[in-house]
Amino acid sequence: MLMDNRKMNALGKACCQFWHSSIGKKIVVAVTGLMLVGFLIGHVAGNLLMFQGRDAMNGYAQFLHHFAHGWGIWFARIGLLAAFVLHIVATVALVRRNRAARASRYECDATVQASRGSRIMIWSGLTILAFLVFHILHFTVRIDPGLASLQDADYAAAHGGEARHDTFAMVMRGFQNPLVSLFYIVGVTLLCSHLSHGVASIFQTLGLRGKHSERAIQRLGWVVAIAIWAGFLSVPVTIVTRLKKDSGAAATTAVSPRAPATARR
Ligand code: HEM
Repeated sequence: MLMDNRKMNALGKACCQFWHSSIGKKIVVAVTGLMLVGFLIGHVAGNLLMFQGRDAMNGYAQFLHHFAHGWGIWFARIGLLAAFVLHIVATVALVRRNRAARASRYECDATVQASRGSRIMIWSGLTILAFLVFHILHFTVRIDPGLASLQDADYAAAHGGEARHDTFAMVMRGFQNPLVSLFYIVGVTLLCSHLSHGVASIFQTLGLRGKHSERAIQRLGWVVAIAIWAGFLSVPVTIVTRLKKDSGAAATTAVSPRAPATARR
């Protein structure tokens, strides 16, 4: 028992030392960043099912909510939230540490130089955060009862009246408001501009970027960021442009030609 306590103390001490070192925080930023990029790639792939039609999209959402008897999504949410919080806390701590070190070397000169870049970073970070909060209230919490109550009528008819949320119709309706679509475009663009630097930094921190691979990894960062950006924005942009074209048509027609044209509740 005494041995166990000692081992626990040693492990706790090692964790504290790791966290308090600059390289420890950089590794935390890199590993959590990798987890978040992995989530984004999975999320984009899921969103592209909008182009397959109502059944594919709603079946996917149903799978996510029922995976591992409904525990899977909670497990993923907790992991994602922990990664997100650690990513931000470690990044802020690193920025503060770097700034303090620079300020002590160059006094007020560095503070003036750093302030513009920091201000841009703070504002883009806050906009991404506001977008994320809005997005979760919009599509996950569904604070708009009109979106929360949408039901997949085809599924109910084929499964003896069993209810299933109509995620496809929710997304179609969600992007009918041009201001909402604009906010998504701004939020996703800022997020992806962050990714274009972030992906290359992950490789550097994990020691996977050498002299020869530097350019290739920088390009990979851009390719990943642009692919995620295009994938996310393809959905609202298609909905808004189709709606503009068929203005006056039913709300839930667009994205897929295979989707039935009727709006459902
Ligand atoms: C146009 C772009 C996007 C669309 C159409 C979209 C669509 C959706 C939908 C439909 C859901 C709800 C899934 C469900 O519960 O059935 C959702 C959840 C979510 N999305 Fe997005 N999303 C987009 C962009 C993003 C971006 C850029 C991020 C990350 C910054 C993101 C992060 C999340 C998160 C964290 C959830 C909550 C997952 C959960 O806890 O259930 N989404 N999204």
